[in-house]
Amino acid sequence: MPYGAEHFLATGETLPEAAYADLRDGFDAILFGAVGDPRVPDGRHAEAILLRLRQGLELTVNFRPCRPLPGTGPEGLHLEVFRENTEGAYCLQGSTEPGRAVDLAVHTEPAVRRLLEAAFVRAAQRGCVLTLAHKANVLKHGHGLWVRLFQELQARHPEVSARAMHADALLCALVQDPRSFGVIAADNYLGDLISDLTAAFAGGMGTAPSLSWAPHQPFRCAVLAEPVHGSAPDIAGKNLANPVGMILSTALLFRHLGWEPEAQVVEQAVTEALLHGARTRDLGGNLGTAEMGTIIRDQLP
Ligand code: IPM
Ligand code: MG
Repeated sequence: MPYGAEHFLATGETLPEAAYADLRDGFDAILFGAVGDPRVPDGRHAEAILLRLRQGLELTVNFRPCRPLPGTGPEGLHLEVFRENTEGAYCLQGSTEPGRAVDLAVHTEPAVRRLLEAAFVRAAQRGCVLTLAHKANVLKHGHGLWVRLFQELQARHPEVSARAMHADALLCALVQDPRSFGVIAADNYLGDLISDLTAAFAGGMGTAPSLSWAPHQPFRCAVLAEPVHGSAPDIAGKNLANPVGMILSTALLFRHLGWEPEAQVVEQAVTEALLHGARTRDLGGNLGTAEMGTIIRDQLP
């Protein structure tokens, strides 16, 4: 589908309602590129396309794993951010008034519960520590709700080693000792920030994949894969971007759809390419997007 900045600038159209309904009811999954373009200074199209899909399809869980690839970070590190993806400070409610600006952050129990439940299940599956990032010392209402529901789930999941941490202290500990973290759960805003930081442990924005899904499956289309990075307008169209984040996002999508062997084949191909020394510029090499993609494809069985 053509929707993006180019299409918006040419037609004034972001994501038409009919196309949205088609995606919602006519497809099982979406593979999403990246949005953001300086030619649309207010980011209107990003909001109307990406946030519309996340919020409209109720894709509450945004999963952002960080596992360094050969040569991109410390071996064996395995961090996973579970970011609430539809509300909080990104609920798009607020106003600009003379001398005053307001952005509301709305947190609802069903979405927060869904996100936390997914994070608890994953931490139990991995047998790793689960950390909630919050600022309930200041954001008493919204983050207070997060801490309360976290404690509720903690009681129901005694098998999970879980702790709640103030996000500022968490960030300091994360940089100093990333291995002391396993799964990190966070609201939309904090999760957005934390997942860029964790991406830096594994080669940066170019390699970070992500998957969003609706655990309660309100519509036929209940999953969207997209790289963590944006559209990188400074290098767009110049054959310089790293395709790995996008390729690994497809692997996450395959796994989610129950295609585990296919997911592993894709991940293995990326690992092999890096083991052979294939590197785009962001990883210190000189391969272009197309060349990197071809080398990865050539590793497929
Ligand atoms: C991300 C991006 C988006 C977000 C932008 C493009 C709206 O930064 O997916 O992390 O903030 O959610
Ligand atoms: Mg972001």
